[in-house]
Amino acid sequence: MQCLNLPDDVRQVTLTWRCQGYTVGFVPTMGYWHEGHLSLIRAARARCAKVVASIFINPTQFAPTEDLARYPQDLERDLALAQEAGVDVVFCPDAAAMYEPGHGTWVEVPELSQGLCGASRPGHFRGVATVVTKLFWIVLPHVAFFGEKDWQQLAIIRAMTRQLSCPVEICGCPTVRESDGLAMSSRNVYLTPQERAQAPALYAMLCHLRDLVAAGERRVDVLRTSGQQFLAQHLPLARLDYLEIVHPETLAPQREATSPALAAVALFLGKARLIDNLRIA
Ligand code: PAF
Repeated sequence: MQCLNLPDDVRQVTLTWRCQGYTVGFVPTMGYWHEGHLSLIRAARARCAKVVASIFINPTQFAPTEDLARYPQDLERDLALAQEAGVDVVFCPDAAAMYEPGHGTWVEVPELSQGLCGASRPGHFRGVATVVTKLFWIVLPHVAFFGEKDWQQLAIIRAMTRQLSCPVEICGCPTVRESDGLAMSSRNVYLTPQERAQAPALYAMLCHLRDLVAAGERRVDVLRTSGQQFLAQHLPLARLDYLEIVHPETLAPQREATSPALAAVALFLGKARLIDNLRIA
């Protein structure tokens, strides 16, 4: 396995692979790997002859008030996991290798970026779409793998690649959960034991909504009220950011939870902001 820091070095390797007829799979990450990241690597390994992963805490997707400075990192451990998982190249640039001084070119998908997480994290998805575009130009992958936990991010990256005619296939992979249902996230490390004990109620609430829909309840206002009550009862330490029922592709809020419908939720729990989603119809 090679660990490369410079964009040109990565591109040279992947260009050679492409010329040799290999399929290149790419897993972009911000590091501090867990089972969720490893499931993306495994999906890439299964589909592609060569696998590149990136580890880059992208500053442009963090607001000044957010956790950029304390985002968890353990590069040595990530590299050991990458090696074990059969990654061929890990791309670990520093910020200067990714952004020249005065960087001013941005990629935006406004129609999908305004609601849900975009409402409380203005500029976040502009930073994500821009860095993913740059990473695609550096790595030149045939297929890129993203987790469905970040559903809005995945929808935005799909739209971005389609609208920019970018020749990368986007592969969404299922959310990986702890045994108690909590979606795996690098940010779970921020949770205190008390917060961690309540956190599984986030997924339990989504399952509760799915069960209500299966039992015939379609009214979104009733479902949202029930979800909010569930969280108030089982996750009292949290402050709800949003609970929405949306169309899974357009992300448009639904009036009725008729198929296809996705419940998406975000809340603040201590120092962490947790997100999750579930198809409920
Ligand atoms: O999901 C993430 O880890 C990040 O948003 C990504 C896609 C690596 C871009 O920085």
